[in-house]
Amino acid sequence: MEKKNLDWENIGFVYRETDKRYVSHYKDGQWDEGALISDSNIVLNECAGIFQYCQEVFEGLKAYTTEDGSIVTFRPDQNAERMMNSAVGLEMPAFPKERFLDAVDQVVRANEAWVPPYGSGASLYIRPYMFASGSVIGVKPADEYQFRVLCTPVGPYFKGGAKPISICVSDFDRAAPRGTGHIKAGLNYAMSMHAGMEAHRKGFDENMFLDPGSRRYVEETGGANFLFVTKDGEVVTPKSDSILPSITRRSLIYVAEHYLGIKVTERPVELAELGDFTECGVCGTAAVVSPVGKVVDHGKEICFPSGMEKMGPVIQKLYDTLTGIQMGRIEAPEGWIRKIK
Ligand code: PLP
Ligand code: COI
Repeated sequence: MEKKNLDWENIGFVYRETDKRYVSHYKDGQWDEGALISDSNIVLNECAGIFQYCQEVFEGLKAYTTEDGSIVTFRPDQNAERMMNSAVGLEMPAFPKERFLDAVDQVVRANEAWVPPYGSGASLYIRPYMFASGSVIGVKPADEYQFRVLCTPVGPYFKGGAKPISICVSDFDRAAPRGTGHIKAGLNYAMSMHAGMEAHRKGFDENMFLDPGSRRYVEETGGANFLFVTKDGEVVTPKSDSILPSITRRSLIYVAEHYLGIKVTERPVELAELGDFTECGVCGTAAVVSPVGKVVDHGKEICFPSGMEKMGPVIQKLYDTLTGIQMGRIEAPEGWIRKIK
């Protein structure tokens, strides 16, 4: 299989149209058999539920070329399950787990030429998504939906890759108490755009969102969960009902406890205690584990001792072990790696 002629080390985190995508339609109470298609455009009625009331959920996962040349995905079953939960939260029909896994496999196989080579630092980002295609004008769930999977090769999410980022405490909330913060729905990201652009305009890479109820506790960024390291080298990660349950974070907690012997505590983290931590990182499929050098709270700088030049030692160990598992250099826990080719 001849790979596409891309400068793999420098492809950035942008959309590139690939050869095939998957679609299945939901109509009359059931999903059709689904198929790979070539057309990357979608034609919908002007009153489709996605346009009028934003009824959409999605997922993000990656396929990698491993050290031995295989192509694998990382814990796709977790994405399938989370997407089923997200669908329930927006009153959409769940797409069955086994079919989700099969659709992702098909899309990766059909776009093998786009899977970045081992060692390039890039991967194939896979975006399963589902939206209301049926028309609605009253506020209610649509009768028809499409489940789709597209993929695009990507490099690091943050410019500079492993260089620490700076984050500002946002004046906006990403989610509402008892709202949809724990669901992977496009509407949460629409909510975060203005806050995100405000942060960029002030020179920050990302926002730190606080809990929308009391604004006392740390929640997450627009696209990743937080991890902190204590002076004793333990990992602390925020507990909250309004953050997205990150699969990367779940995996890092396991890696910390079972591979590195690091204690992990999931608990509410106060903004006021950030200065006590020695390292900070954000984690997610796109972000992998990215170090945070500095958090700025309205002019008050919280600079982590790990600094603005490189990852701190604990975040580095977590990063190395997780990416080692993903790239096939370190043995994975049972069921984490799905071999596609
Ligand atoms: N939080 C938000 C808001 C996200 O969009 C993501 C990305 O998917 C994450 C956290 C990280 O989740 P995961 O590790 O499952 O990709
Ligand atoms: C992911 O990490 O998969 C996400 O969906 C986050 C997004 C900001 C790219």
